[in-house]
Amino acid sequence: MVCLPAAPPALALRTWLGLGLLALLCLGLGQAREKRVIRSKLGENVSLSCCHEIPRSESLQNYRTYWQKKCPGVTLVVLAYSDGTLIEVHDRYKNRTEMDPWDLILRISPMEILDNGTYQCVVQHNSVVVCDESVTLFVTADFSQPSITAEVSASSCESAEMVIVCSSHGGFPKPRISGALNNVSVEWNASWVSESSPSPYNVTGTLVLNVTSDVNVTCSVEHDGLAKSTSLLLEKTNDCVVPPVPPPYNVITASSIVVITFILAIILAARYLPRRVCPHCCKPQDPVEEGMKEGTKPPVSLKVTSETSSV
Ligand SMILES: *[C@@H]1O[C@H](CO)[C@@H](O)[C@H](O)[C@H]1NC(C)=O
Ligand SMILES: *[C@@H]1O[C@H](CO)[C@@H](O)[C@H](O)[C@H]1NC(C)=O
Ligand SMILES: *[C@@H]1O[C@H](CO)[C@@H](O)[C@H](O)[C@H]1NC(C)=O
Ligand SMILES: *[C@@H]1O[C@H](CO)[C@@H](O)[C@H](O)[C@H]1NC(C)=O
Ligand SMILES: *[C@@H]1O[C@H](CO)[C@@H](O)[C@H](O)[C@H]1NC(C)=O
Ligand SMILES: *[C@@H]1O[C@H](CO)[C@@H](O)[C@H](O)[C@H]1NC(C)=O
Ligand SMILES: *[C@@H]1O[C@H](CO)[C@@H](O)[C@H](O)[C@H]1NC(C)=O
Repeated sequence: MVCLPAAPPALALRTWLGLGLLALLCLGLGQAREKRVIRSKLGENVSLSCCHEIPRSESLQNYRTYWQKKCPGVTLVVLAYSDGTLIEVHDRYKNRTEMDPWDLILRISPMEILDNGTYQCVVQHNSVVVCDESVTLFVTADFSQPSITAEVSASSCESAEMVIVCSSHGGFPKPRISGALNNVSVEWNASWVSESSPSPYNVTGTLVLNVTSDVNVTCSVEHDGLAKSTSLLLEKTNDCVVPPVPPPYNVITASSIVVITFILAIILAARYLPRRVCPHCCKPQDPVEEGMKEGTKPPVSLKVTSETSSV
């Protein structure tokens, strides 16, 4: 008596739950089908799982399994097995791609940028398609940590004009380059280079800046929400202090020239003046003979002093 009224709600609940579960399952599956996305890096390895797995106990006879890549306009077969035998590998995937004939997982190593795209695994048994499912593979490559260089192109008392270059290399896809000066965003004059169409990029940003005070320059390179930043503190050395520095050097050279000339003058004077002085001071004392003898002797001044002292 007590259980009877309870039964119908329980049944309803079960139905509801069942329906909800089914809806969830369908939604989940639908989403999985549409959004199977795998991200991989250039040079790394990736495993793409298929929608089916052949039990090891089963024979591979009458199975035809393959992975194909949907390229714009064409679909190329990456790798194909028939009756357990590898029958085809695309040239671009040779020596770096394999698939286990039972688990049907496609393994690619190393990844190349051209591998980016949508892949489809197809399983046929007795010519009936068991399943086919697509997976989107995104191939990216990390950029190097940006490097910043600054060179003064012109400077004056109040400011220094600097050419700031930020560069980063080896990334894919094409990145954005952004900058900031003391936390205020700034546009780089950017340029990108890439060897061929789908290959890693080198990016360079240039900025001509009038630096009037210390400034913190930041350069960020980003793609797919992954950013790498580098900062450089540019210090404004006051050129008004620097210019007075060169004159002292000139003053030193100038004054040393003056000093050297002066010393030379003294030496010369010391050498020749006494001879002129001597005849005057010696005239009353000595005969001309002595002066002529002394002419060959260098320490004239000594003689003069000794003579004067003796007098
Ligand atoms: C694959 O490797 C073999 C031997 O290791 C070599 O002879 C062949 O040229 C390679 N193929 C490609 C496409 O690199
Ligand atoms: C990589 O493949 C995806 C999916 O097909 C595509 O949307 C994307 O544009 C491709 N990226 C490049 C750089 O080719
Ligand atoms: C830099 O700017 C960001 C937002 O623009 C702000 O959140 C942050 O506090 C600032 N940092 C400094 C040190 O000013
Ligand atoms: C950016 O660089 C290019 C080439 O170096 C130059 O012609 C152009 O004037 C620059 N633009 C700015 C805004 O500096
Ligand atoms: C990119 O930069 C790297 C390292 O600086 C250099 O070896 C390479 O040649 C550059 N590539 C291009 C296309 O300029
Ligand atoms: C840099 O700033 C100084 C003073 O603010 C100005 O005289 C000079 O012309 C500026 N130079 C450039 C290249 O903008
Ligand atoms: C420069 O700015 C960056 C980012 O705003 C900050 O992380 C860094 O510490 C700053 N460097 C200096 C020397 O102020």
